[in-house]
Amino acid sequence: MHIVKKIISGKEYYYLNKSVREGDKVRSKNVAYLGKSREEAEKKKIEIEEKIKMEEENKKMNEEKVGTESKNSVGAKEINEKQEQKKEDKRLDIEGLNNFCKRKGFVYPSGEIYGGLGGFWDFAHLGSELKKNLKEQWWKYHIHGREDIIGIDGAIITNPKVWEASGHVASFVDVAVVCKKCGYKTKLDKHEVEGAKCDKCGGEYDNKGEFNPMFTTQVGPVKEDSITAYLRPETAQLIFANFKLVMDNARMKFPFGIAQVGKSFRNELSPREFLFRCREFEQMEIEYFIEPEMECPHMEEIKGVNILVYDEKMQEGKLEPELMDLFEAWEKGIIKTDWHVYWIAKEYEWFTSLGAKAENFRIRQHISTEKSHYAIDTWDIEYNFPMGWRELQGFANRGDFDLKEHQKHSKEKMEISENGKKFIPHVVCEPSLGVERAFLVFMFDAYSEDEKGNIVLKLNPKLAPIKAAVFPIVKQPEFIELAENVIKDLRKEWNVVYDKSGSIGRRYARNDEAGTPYCITVDGDSLENDDVTIRDRDSKKQVRVKVDKLKEVLRKLINSEIEFQKAGKLVE
Ligand code: GAP
Repeated sequence: MHIVKKIISGKEYYYLNKSVREGDKVRSKNVAYLGKSREEAEKKKIEIEEKIKMEEENKKMNEEKVGTESKNSVGAKEINEKQEQKKEDKRLDIEGLNNFCKRKGFVYPSGEIYGGLGGFWDFAHLGSELKKNLKEQWWKYHIHGREDIIGIDGAIITNPKVWEASGHVASFVDVAVVCKKCGYKTKLDKHEVEGAKCDKCGGEYDNKGEFNPMFTTQVGPVKEDSITAYLRPETAQLIFANFKLVMDNARMKFPFGIAQVGKSFRNELSPREFLFRCREFEQMEIEYFIEPEMECPHMEEIKGVNILVYDEKMQEGKLEPELMDLFEAWEKGIIKTDWHVYWIAKEYEWFTSLGAKAENFRIRQHISTEKSHYAIDTWDIEYNFPMGWRELQGFANRGDFDLKEHQKHSKEKMEISENGKKFIPHVVCEPSLGVERAFLVFMFDAYSEDEKGNIVLKLNPKLAPIKAAVFPIVKQPEFIELAENVIKDLRKEWNVVYDKSGSIGRRYARNDEAGTPYCITVDGDSLENDDVTIRDRDSKKQVRVKVDKLKEVLRKLINSEIEFQKAGKLVE
């Protein structure tokens, strides 16, 4: 190895190069930056040569060790694989995820410097990106990806008569109870109160009376002239209230859906379990309207979709849920309507296509006493949270309840005349999902620890807050210049970061924890060949890609259009 001096903008820079044979030619290849003076360069050269020698010796020793192990240890390999699996499977509890989200910059308690406020959360630099991507993917799949659904964005505060008509003022009511023994506070549905025992200690509950979880506010700055309005407790009602306008403006034909994503508020008695039960949250909802009795034409699409099914009968008989083909569950009449089954299958597909683990999902039918005031039949997709199976997404059959009520209260006609028939459209299925609960699911299923115990957040690249991190391998001007040019170009399309501090290993680890799927390194070869390495977060494999092809390759990788190994020249 030899020292090379370069003059850049009149200043001296020293590098360590080594001679490499390529075919019948010998080329000088850059190994490291040595500083700005000959003296400094000589000193660093000795240090680097010693380090390389030590690394080579270590490598040789490791190879010898692996050789002896592999001769006599098929069992050991299996055990190792199982341990790997176990480490991969390491699941956080809800508090563990809360702590990780705070430490890494995903979610903070809202107004934490003043002690926070129960049920309110602030999304930080990584969390806000993940949440934005999640909503964007939902919108793409449900609205841009289909011809039959359009989106709206209604107001958070609307005319309070909307909530009188919908039944929320009179019937959106829970009962507050407090355990007489341990003081545990919770809410119960009215039908659950009689004979209920404390979930925590089995003690008797003290009934504190009914409450309506809608937040109220005054509209108008002068008290005497103001009216009391509500912060919406669901996004759905704005869809019903705007139904006729939207249908006519967008010239929609049945069957069709109207979707909305936005904030909802519920003054929960005891917000708990991190993002699971918030007072301020977001919903992604679809009201899917049909002419009564209209059949679902997409049933062939859902054949072969299997999920654990837990219907009302199984619950009453204290039986276990059964793994079923959803199409068959419909044919057998376990799930009554075709539209219900279809939407459950589509939503399950959305989750799993973005990396959620199928084994953590099941569907459960509401028993007759737990259904909402508007529902004919309701199923939930439940997720196996660390606290147990809980509702992730609801699918209520609301029939014509909402449009009929709005017609009655507003005196506006909601009836449709089509093909010589007059009818009020039915919502046979309302897929209704909380953004925060989906956020939890993707975080739980992405969280893993590698063999060294480092956290790797295996988020689908489409959801990942940062799509790529760019590193110059050393802090030399020409490395930095190329890395900066690369990042400038990538920034036009994605959220990417530039990271030049710490060892490469440290930089990889930092980005693995943030869920960044690709790390791009500018190294010695990059300067000569105008290429970079891309390292895959999950397999840790690397490929070399020309700088002018980088954006195209990255786009295909993020959209899962190519396998990583085929994205460039594999680095052995
Ligand atoms: N429009 C129907 C509706 O709002 P819901 O079952 O009351 O139905 C739908 O809510 C979804 O909204 C739930 O499945 C859940 O994902 C989410 N959600 C409801 N309350 C929530 C809360 N307090 N915190 C977080 N998410 C909530």
